[in-house]
Amino acid sequence: MDQLGSGKGTITKLVGEKLGLVNIDTGATFRCVTLAMLRQNIKVEEIDKIKELLETIKIEILHKNSQQIILLNGEDVSLQIREKPVNDMVSSVSTLKIVRDKMLQLQRKIAEGKNVIMEGRDIGTNVFPNANVKIYLDATAEERAKRRMLQNQEKGISSTYEEALKNVKTRDKIDSEREIAPLKKAEDAIYIDSTNMTIQEVVEEICNIVQKD
Ligand code: DC
Repeated sequence: MDQLGSGKGTITKLVGEKLGLVNIDTGATFRCVTLAMLRQNIKVEEIDKIKELLETIKIEILHKNSQQIILLNGEDVSLQIREKPVNDMVSSVSTLKIVRDKMLQLQRKIAEGKNVIMEGRDIGTNVFPNANVKIYLDATAEERAKRRMLQNQEKGISSTYEEALKNVKTRDKIDSEREIAPLKKAEDAIYIDSTNMTIQEVVEEICNIVQKD
């Protein structure tokens, strides 16, 4: 499932629960690389250091009662990867070919032998171009900023609406203009605009699409 921003995590989790699919959040893998870079003070320009880092880090996605737990070298970083330093840097990190190549392998491996619902910006176009069902989930930047702010509040992360909107817009620009595997709708993806829909309505629509398939 490709989607433009906040809300997709909640929706894929609920659809996954309803349909018995393993939910995989691919953004978390790019976020882990970014967190590891921040911890080692590695900049986006330092390709050799990033190469070395990618050879040594271990990223895992575990599932506990349909909740995803993201492990970086065995440490639970599920919360840290959602914080501002990672938010501000992750889009730039995910433009790098060396990072994308590695994450592509990892994402395909995580899904191996499972029935999955996978979300991320290049899943239908690049990671699983032959997926059974592809959904391109959209919403206005303003609505996504509002959702992200509420989500942050629930997690105890403080951010203003202006900050969230700026971050959403900047990331959209980087994600859709990058050279490798940019964010775009796969030709055969079904488009859903969730701006004026409730989470439940989106979940129902997606379940209906999958069950009809
Ligand atoms: O979905 P998210 O906000 O957690 O994604 C974080 C960043 O990771 C996003 O700005 C772009 C990148 N990303 C990507 O390039 N390809 C994916 N499949 C998923 C995320």
